[in-house]
Amino acid sequence: MSSIVTLAIESSCDETSAAILKDGRQVLSNIVATQIEEHKKFGGVVPEVASRRHIENVQQVVQEALDSANMTFSDIDIVGVTYGAGLVGALLVGLSAAKAISFSLGVPLVGVNHIEGHICANFIAHKELEPPFMCLVVSGGHTHLVEVKDYGKYEILGQTRDDAAGEAFDKIARAIGLGYPGGSKIDRAAKLGDKQAIDFPRAYLEKDSYDFSFSGLKSAALNYLNSKKMKNEEIVIEDIAASYQEAIVDVLVEKSVRACKGKGLKTLVLAGGVAANSRLREKLEQNAAENGIDVKYPPIDLCTDNAAMIGCAAYYDYKNGRVSGLDLNAVPNLKI
Ligand code: KG4
Ligand code: ZN
Repeated sequence: MSSIVTLAIESSCDETSAAILKDGRQVLSNIVATQIEEHKKFGGVVPEVASRRHIENVQQVVQEALDSANMTFSDIDIVGVTYGAGLVGALLVGLSAAKAISFSLGVPLVGVNHIEGHICANFIAHKELEPPFMCLVVSGGHTHLVEVKDYGKYEILGQTRDDAAGEAFDKIARAIGLGYPGGSKIDRAAKLGDKQAIDFPRAYLEKDSYDFSFSGLKSAALNYLNSKKMKNEEIVIEDIAASYQEAIVDVLVEKSVRACKGKGLKTLVLAGGVAANSRLREKLEQNAAENGIDVKYPPIDLCTDNAAMIGCAAYYDYKNGRVSGLDLNAVPNLKI
């Protein structure tokens, strides 16, 4: 059978991205126009600004994706697009562009769940990877432990009850003056700090729970900062970053390794922006190896938002017969 060429578009948050893939796992181009500089001055993503930038960028990003893959629209077999979860205005821009392309070319439109996209980044990075495996999805909006039973077949074992792990990184990064986006800055500062300097709480919840909670940790860090300021005591940013990061990483590692053991799975896969965290990778690899579990994660450019991962998910959805109509709408709180 001849190969399938996918054009994918991602615009759920602050990156406008388009990619071309061959047969789901071979990335021919993956163009990402980031808006980070634009949102930095506000300390976080401003939804209205994000939507406007997506509108300005989307056509050019799609054209660049085609050009750098040496393709034209006539080569496209399917169009994949993120339809949730994400910012509604931002999602609608990518969705409208994808619908227009799908309609004018007369090729199928495949709506993709953003979280599923993050998981599929690993199929691109690891050509030999096949389900079943356990996946820890940790991003700015999500913290999920997902059992990947087959392509497109998932079971959620646990998720955050309040803040997502990335959100927890971003909020404290802002509070200690590291700015936005906070995760990578805490990661960098933590390398120079003492992770045992401050004993921040770890919320393991009920004994068998695979759920997460980071709001108590966030409050503890804010209280620590306030009390230091009130007493006019020195605040060592690097120590806060290292101790805070360690508290998040400890819980993520314990629950994911326990989930693998509980389900008898020998492969643990990381996905989402927080999967770029160097301490999470290090501690997880160490802990997993002690339990005979193999850890895999995508390179950093496939961890953060990009259209290639959406294209991979679209390919498997299409193979599974999941094609969308042109009435597909954006679903801001879409669940997996
Ligand atoms: O997956 P992503 O690009 O966007 C969402 O779908 O949310 O994830 C962005 C999140 C942000 O919260 C960012 O601070 C976090 O990933 N992040 C990191 C690191 N790099 C990005 N968190 C911890 N350590 C990092 N090195
Ligand atoms: Zn994401």
